[in-house]
Amino acid sequence: MTERARHDRAVLELFPESATVEKGELAIGGRSAASLAEEFGTPLVVYCERTLRAQARAYRSAAPDALVIYGAKAFPNVALLRLFAEEGLGADVSTLGELRFALAAGVPGERLVVHGNNKSDEELRAAAGAAAGLVVLDAPDEVERAARAGVRRVLVRVTSGIEADTHDAIRTGHHGSKFGLPPDEAIAAIARAREARLEAAGLHVHVGSQLLDTQAARMTVEWLAAFAAECRAALGWTPAVVDVGGGLGVRHVEDERAPAVDEFVGELVARLEHAWDLHGLPRARLVLEPGRSLVGRAGMTLYRVGVVKVTREAAAWVAVDGGMSDNPRPQLYGARYTALLANRAGEERAGAYSVTGPHCEEEVVIRHVALPEPRRGDLLAVPATGAYTLAMASNYNVAPRPAAVLVADGRARLIRRRETLDDLLAREVDG
Ligand SMILES: Cc1ncc(COP(=O)(O)O)c(C=O)c1O
Repeated sequence: MTERARHDRAVLELFPESATVEKGELAIGGRSAASLAEEFGTPLVVYCERTLRAQARAYRSAAPDALVIYGAKAFPNVALLRLFAEEGLGADVSTLGELRFALAAGVPGERLVVHGNNKSDEELRAAAGAAAGLVVLDAPDEVERAARAGVRRVLVRVTSGIEADTHDAIRTGHHGSKFGLPPDEAIAAIARAREARLEAAGLHVHVGSQLLDTQAARMTVEWLAAFAAECRAALGWTPAVVDVGGGLGVRHVEDERAPAVDEFVGELVARLEHAWDLHGLPRARLVLEPGRSLVGRAGMTLYRVGVVKVTREAAAWVAVDGGMSDNPRPQLYGARYTALLANRAGEERAGAYSVTGPHCEEEVVIRHVALPEPRRGDLLAVPATGAYTLAMASNYNVAPRPAAVLVADGRARLIRRRETLDDLLAREVDG
């Protein structure tokens, strides 16, 4: 295999399972990138149904006894929530909006877990009204407020002090985190929840997101078993439910490695069972809350190439029709991406280009990606943009947010329509 073919294959692996390149044309779910761009416009986020279902099934088969709930924050979308519900998944929701989306998708109440580090009374009442299976208490004053709101069954979120190897903004298990309660306060909250006649069903931890190995998750479940034993000693109470959050990362660039779902979850379950046995704890129901690893690889973004500019510093810029308004991760976290020219994918690379958008910042969507010489009108496909991209999109520079489509078997279905300038103008109040 030639060097170029090897490189092409390595990049293609980052795209959804159904991605192919034939005669230089990238296709997903049996639809060419060019036909999708023509039908739906650009920027466009394309989700591959096969990849979404495969990831959901991988979770279910790696932990058949667990409740797997989709971390809806990764991409809150009614069609995807419904698709995951068909696969037997529930939803982790952390705002009224996410709860509303999950209910619109028909996610059954018993498969809903309600989060939030600053839940309003309205949110607590809505959780109770939706008969959510679990509400995760995240603050000392939430115990009584949840009871008053009519919530019945709760978990208590505890911080383990374990520092995951990930970006500061998505590390959440450390002491001093805004999320959860330190161990002593968590024990007090469990005691108060029981006094308040809430069903204190168990414990919740989430160590961080975009984890590229199992270390932090392994340490967390071992810590959790020791903490559950501490709860038993202090209260005569053990958790019937242990929710270990989400966190499994995805690959965005060729040199990034991430464990497969079965590897990550298999290790987690084995460690958990071992640690539980070591402390003589009664088996608990496991809850998993994956977000990114369900939808990250399943999504790719298509942009249209506009200006190509070689500056004095010999930096070659490719400007596309989207950027930080549809994917703020490079600006927020220094996230790295790669890309293919979707309509000329097989051609010889001409050099390294930096991809930018139309926004009023020196935004870099991708720094230095090897591409055939890009031309106005080409299509640039960026893989692994299914999670925390559209979910965090903005209207910076009055940019309407892109559409999203779901593709399978040669068909494409719109699952979020593109915003229009009229949508944005309609919110303006003048006078
Ligand atoms: C409580 C909780 N659960 C689940 C998730 C989903 O995490 P991920 O997308 O990394 O799987 C998050 C993400 O921040 C979270 O805060």
